[in-house]
Amino acid sequence: MSVVAVVGCAAGGLETLLDGLVRPLIEEGHIVPVVVTPAAYAWLVDIGHDATIAEVTGLPLRSAARLPREPSPHPAPDVLVGAPMSANSVAKLALGIGDNQALTLLCENLTVRPTVIFPRVNAAHARQPSWAGHLAALRSAGVDMVYGEDVWPLYEPREAPSGRGLPWNAVLARTRALLSA
Ligand SMILES: Cc1cc2nc3c(=O)[nH]c(=O)nc-3n(C[C@H](O)[C@H](O)[C@H](O)COP(=O)(O)O)c2cc1C
Repeated sequence: MSVVAVVGCAAGGLETLLDGLVRPLIEEGHIVPVVVTPAAYAWLVDIGHDATIAEVTGLPLRSAARLPREPSPHPAPDVLVGAPMSANSVAKLALGIGDNQALTLLCENLTVRPTVIFPRVNAAHARQPSWAGHLAALRSAGVDMVYGEDVWPLYEPREAPSGRGLPWNAVLARTRALLSA
């Protein structure tokens, strides 16, 4: 049994985080603390998944930072999975900006704990001039990126095939590989 920390951002498909990633990891016997960005938290509260994630994981869904006098409500992670990650949060992670609990967790574990990241981006995000540098920085830090034509072909905004699901099987496969390494 390992602690697999899941980090979610305000990106398309976040509503499938529970069934696509959290439940499968729990069913495989792992402890799964979930931390999301403030924007993602609002999306999950809107569909009632804050309570369901807490029930399924047995841990509070985290978004806010704890107070200095409070103990951490989550165990320390063995492996981290950032999925779906927004272009915004990938950029902040690459630059070391930990301005919320989700990014703080990823930033402080980068290079120390195995990490899988799925950037849920489109062709416009990838054209941003700094994007390639952000990916290179994270790869050089040892992050396993679920990225590329084989797992997530990039489309222009609003041109992706409707109903396209997130590549949870690829994310889970990479996570299992890191857990067994
Ligand atoms: C409905 C909706 C869907 C979005 N989908 C994406 C997405 O798939 N990928 C992405 O990078 N940004 C997406 N965004 C933009 C992010 O939500 C926005 O950049 C936000 O500031 C990200 O916050 P976070 O990185 O703190 O979670 C979407 C925004 C909205 C309103």
